[in-house]
Amino acid sequence: MEIVRYGIIGTGYFGAELGRILREQTGADVVAVLDPENGNKIATEFGCAEEKDLEALCSRKDIDAVIVASPNFLHKEPVLCAARHGKHIFCEKPIALCYADCDDMVKAAEENHVIFMAGHVMNFFRSVRHAKRLISEGKIGRVLYAHSARNGWEEPQKSISWKKIREKSGGHLYHHIHELDCIQFIMGHATAVTMTGGNVAHDGPQFGDEDDMLFLSLEFGNNTYAICEYGSAFHWPEHYVLIQGTEGAIRIDMCNVGMTVKCADGTEEHYTVHESQEEDDDRTHIYHSTEMDGAIQYGCPGKKPPMWLHSIMRNEMQFFNNIMHGAPIPEEFKPLMTGEAARAAIATADAATLSLKENRKVFVSEIQN
Ligand SMILES: NC(=O)c1ccc[n+]([C@@H]2O[C@H](COP(=O)([O-])OP(=O)(O)OC[C@H]3O[C@@H](n4cnc5c(N)ncnc54)[C@H](O)[C@@H]3O)[C@@H](O)[C@H]2O)c1
Repeated sequence: MEIVRYGIIGTGYFGAELGRILREQTGADVVAVLDPENGNKIATEFGCAEEKDLEALCSRKDIDAVIVASPNFLHKEPVLCAARHGKHIFCEKPIALCYADCDDMVKAAEENHVIFMAGHVMNFFRSVRHAKRLISEGKIGRVLYAHSARNGWEEPQKSISWKKIREKSGGHLYHHIHELDCIQFIMGHATAVTMTGGNVAHDGPQFGDEDDMLFLSLEFGNNTYAICEYGSAFHWPEHYVLIQGTEGAIRIDMCNVGMTVKCADGTEEHYTVHESQEEDDDRTHIYHSTEMDGAIQYGCPGKKPPMWLHSIMRNEMQFFNNIMHGAPIPEEFKPLMTGEAARAAIATADAATLSLKENRKVFVSEIQN
C-alpha cells in the first residue's frame, strides 16, 4: 500500500494528538510539523522534520496533505498556502472567523482541486449518524424544530487562553460551531437568524472578552425552526441537541450522555451517543467531576483528549486517510469535504453576529452576497 505523507501545522493539544493518531493509521506517515512553540518537541517525538515557515512545509515534495490545527484566527493562511501547493487539507473548526475568509479558502481548494475537510467532529458521532438515518426513514416524521444548548460556568482564569479572546477564537458561537453545524447537517441551512445576548457575568481582567450568553433563533424558510444557546454564564450546565418531529423526537445528551428516541406511540428507545457505553459513561463522569463543566473548559498543549473525543478524532483521521487513499466520499459528507458545510455554518454565525450588533433579524443571504 502506498503511504500518504502528512504535514501538521499547529501541534498543540489537538494537532499533536491528530498526528499521533495518523501515525497509527495504515498507509499514513507524518513527515513534518510546524509550530513556533511546540514544533520541536513533537518533531522529536515523531522522529520527523520540523519546518519553520509555511512555504517551506507546504512546498515539500514529500507531503501529500496537511492538517491545520493552529489557533482559529490562524487557519486561513496555511489553508491558502497548502491549496496553492496542491496539498489536500484537513482544517480544524472553525475553518475561519468570517464568511469572506471561508469563501476564499473554499475557492482556493476548488481551484487547486484539493480536498478541504473541516474538523466538524459531531458529523462523526455515532448518535448523529444514527439520528440522521432514523429521520430519513421517517421515524420522527417531519422535522419541525431543533434546540441545542452548550452551557456552563466559567471561573476566573489565572491566564487568559486565546480561546477566550473574541478576535482569536470567535467566542463561544464560532469556537463551538459544532452544534450549529450539526443542526444544519440535519435540517439544512438556516435562512434567517436573530441573536440576543452579551457578556453578562464575566467582565474583568481574569476573563477574556467573549460574550458569555448567546441565544440564536434560526429560521429555515420552510416553517422549521431552531434555537441554539451558548455560553459560560450558566451554573446549571447543559449540553444537548434535541430534534422534534411530527411523530416523535430525538435527544442527544452530551452531559448525562445518551441518546433517546421518543416514538409516536410514546415508547422510548435508548442508544449510545459515542462508540460504546464505556465512552458515554466516561464523558458523563467528566461532566460531573470538577475537572470540566458544561463543555466550556478547554485542552492545552500537552493535555490528552478524553476517551470519547480521542475515539472521534480517530474516526475522523481514518476517514480522511481513507479518502486520501482513494475511497469514495459518501453523499452526505460531500459538503464537509469541500469546506462548503463549514462555510455555511460560519455564514449563519455571521448573520447571528450582525443581528446582535444591529438588533434585528438578519437573512443569511445578506452575508453571502
Ligand atoms: N474538533 C474539536 O473538538 C476540537 C477540540 C479542540 C481544539 N480544536 C481546534 O484545534 C485547533 C487548535 O486548538 P488546540 O486546542 O490544539 O489549541 P492549543 O493552544 O493547544 O494549540 C495551538 C497550537 O498552535 C500553535 N501555533 C500558534 N501560532 C501558530 C502558527 N502561526 N502556525 C502554526 N502553529 C501555531 C501554538 O504554538 C500551539 O501549539 C483550533 O482550531 C481548535 O478550535 C478542535
